[in-house]
Amino acid sequence: MTLGEGGTPLVPAPALSERTGCEVWLKLEGANPTGSFKDRGMTVAVSAAMRDGAEAVVCASTGNTAASAAAYAARAGVRGAVIVPEGKIATGKLAQALMHGARVVALRGNFDQALELVLQLVDRNPIALVNSINPFRIEGQKTGAFEVCDQLGEAPDVLCVPVGNAGNVTAWWKGFREYDVAPRLHGYQAEGAAPLVRGAPVENPETVASAIRIGNPARWEEAMDAFTSSRGEVRAVSDEEILDAYSFLGEREGVFAEPASAAAVAGLLKYGAEGRVVCVLTGHGLKDPTTALSRAAPVMPCEPSIEQVERAMLGDG
Ligand code: F0G
Repeated sequence: MTLGEGGTPLVPAPALSERTGCEVWLKLEGANPTGSFKDRGMTVAVSAAMRDGAEAVVCASTGNTAASAAAYAARAGVRGAVIVPEGKIATGKLAQALMHGARVVALRGNFDQALELVLQLVDRNPIALVNSINPFRIEGQKTGAFEVCDQLGEAPDVLCVPVGNAGNVTAWWKGFREYDVAPRLHGYQAEGAAPLVRGAPVENPETVASAIRIGNPARWEEAMDAFTSSRGEVRAVSDEEILDAYSFLGEREGVFAEPASAAAVAGLLKYGAEGRVVCVLTGHGLKDPTTALSRAAPVMPCEPSIEQVERAMLGDG
């Protein structure tokens, strides 16, 4: 079950390099078929579910997993059903899940509660869970690590990633270990949803970066092992720092990534790093037009005359 996932661009980031004194690269995971890194794992998880004769694939999600699961389920011709926190997923992700014909359930609760419920659901029914607690998801997602090493010709010194349910950082570390390399993993959580940084679950996580609004990550131990074994770190960034990085990426690097992805860059800007650094931009900015429009400058209204157009388009503003 494939849509041609992986093989995403790794581009140099000159403005970020200048600001941080590191050699910074951006891994554009938004270039995957549904616009996030989830596709790397979903192709494997849904293929395995088909092999095993599952009647439906289900997941709990903050949005991207739902969009990806829905697409691959459509492709496979099986039912997709996703459960998401009501009102807390970005518009683009919701549109994707619906367009792919998945049943979208809006839970009056948060992601952590949705995941708990969906775990009970799969216990009771012949359906496949495609959240990142599914080992096939990790097997797919680890390929990001292979690619970065191939694209650079060697491993980076540091890999910066946003952390939510902690499947992704687990997968990157697995990939690097299989490649026999060990860059430092720098994970970043949003301040209002930073259980790994605090060392305790967060009951009511809150952040503008809705994709990582998670208070009790499923792969907690493995993520902490990845940070420790790689001599890396896990730290928190504020919503304001996330949004500053989000704008910086768009305006200075020409890269539109969603807020959760910008957390990787916010962390690099806040805490620094040394050497060659890859920031994983996990999801495309188009996923979340609402946050973009609330942040960006307003459009310029204009009458259809050349003088007005000239002033509007080229004037001092
Ligand atoms: N970045 C984006 C854009 C995400 O969608 C997610 C997770 C992460 C980072 C964090 O990855 O959970 O493996 O630590 N999104 C999940 C979802 C939870 O349901 O789409 P993680």
